[in-house]
Amino acid sequence: MKATTLLKLESVVRPFIGLFSPHLVISQYSKKRIDFLNKIKEELPNETEIYSPPEELSRTLWGLTFKSPIMNAAGMFKNGECYEMVALQGAGAYLGGTGTWNIRTGNEKNRVYLPFTPYPKSHSASNFLGLPNHGDEVNASKLACIIQDIELNKHPSGRLENTPIGWSVMGSPDLQGEDKLKGLVDGMKLYEKVGVDFLEINESCPNTQHGKPQEDDLYNRLNYIKQYFLNERTGRIPVIVKFSNDTEVEQVPALLDLLFALGYDGVNFGNTSTHYEKRREFIHPSERNLYDHFTKTFGGGVSGRALKDSSLELCSRAVEYVKAGHPAHEFHIIRTGGIETFKDIKESDQAGVSMNQWFTGYFENLARHGHSLYREMFN
Ligand SMILES: Cc1cc2nc3c(=O)[nH]c(=O)nc-3n(C[C@H](O)[C@H](O)[C@H](O)COP(=O)(O)O)c2cc1C
Repeated sequence: MKATTLLKLESVVRPFIGLFSPHLVISQYSKKRIDFLNKIKEELPNETEIYSPPEELSRTLWGLTFKSPIMNAAGMFKNGECYEMVALQGAGAYLGGTGTWNIRTGNEKNRVYLPFTPYPKSHSASNFLGLPNHGDEVNASKLACIIQDIELNKHPSGRLENTPIGWSVMGSPDLQGEDKLKGLVDGMKLYEKVGVDFLEINESCPNTQHGKPQEDDLYNRLNYIKQYFLNERTGRIPVIVKFSNDTEVEQVPALLDLLFALGYDGVNFGNTSTHYEKRREFIHPSERNLYDHFTKTFGGGVSGRALKDSSLELCSRAVEYVKAGHPAHEFHIIRTGGIETFKDIKESDQAGVSMNQWFTGYFENLARHGHSLYREMFN
């Protein structure tokens, strides 16, 4: 059975998962999520599902054309899976990773490997994955093959045009000090070398055992990357920085001043939330038991509709600040968090956001519309 058919069938039981024991739900969904991802990477849209968005939806950022205003968020395809699938579905771009210099197996707790649960009635989810990935060397070589295939035109002609490839990177929580930063920059250089179109630095993943990276020494990290990567770029591959949706709106000007001064090319608001109390009000009463169990047992990051207002507010403030501050180079605001519909994208457009990413909403729409999800969204 196709992965998308399985997802459709599963969506029948999804609304009722709040009735079952939280441990059962979390252990089942964590396992089934991995099985599903293994299955979907074998799948491609069929002829009737392949979709090219209307030309007026495309946009150009940093000289790169994105054929639609939305792409997947980081963490969905951690090891370079499914590029062709999302390109044929109609995504504006593809984002792989988050990758780290070393291989990571990810989190296991209470006999649950890569803990995850959806909150279907709340259109939200929690995860405590802990950056599982095959490491930058393996993933960069895999990416080299994908990019070579595109360049040799082995893919159906023209269909993958205007779907740039980005990669999300982060200093490995297993390394410390200079080793950590060197690993991060070495990884970025590998992705640049194989021809990635843009890079995103994940500054705000709450799911690592070494604490919250966003509370580490941000300036030193970003300055190190400037010295050893931005200043040494052969071309001018754009590098954006992704912060948490828990960022305070008042922090936006100082963060942007830092990114302008160091020469970064954009900002993404943002990543999952660890403000469990604040996000709880967006969780449907029938799913609060599951939510409390997950956040108390695993912690992790909250995603989906519970972040919609925060991502819009942070991005709107960022756009205002960019307009007033006139950075010396091209700088873009990317919105991630709670994007589900074309209405959300229009709101982003009105706010002046350049590009959107989605994760939780992507899978909900994939369950509903299969590979035609972008067609359904834009029609
Ligand atoms: C299962 C899962 C894994 C994720 N992994 C990553 C990751 O590796 N790197 C990252 O920057 N964000 C990661 N995220 C966060 C998403 O990229 C996104 O910022 C967040 O889910 C908010 O978007 P959404 O509301 O559309 O889901 C992950 C989210 C989920 C649900």
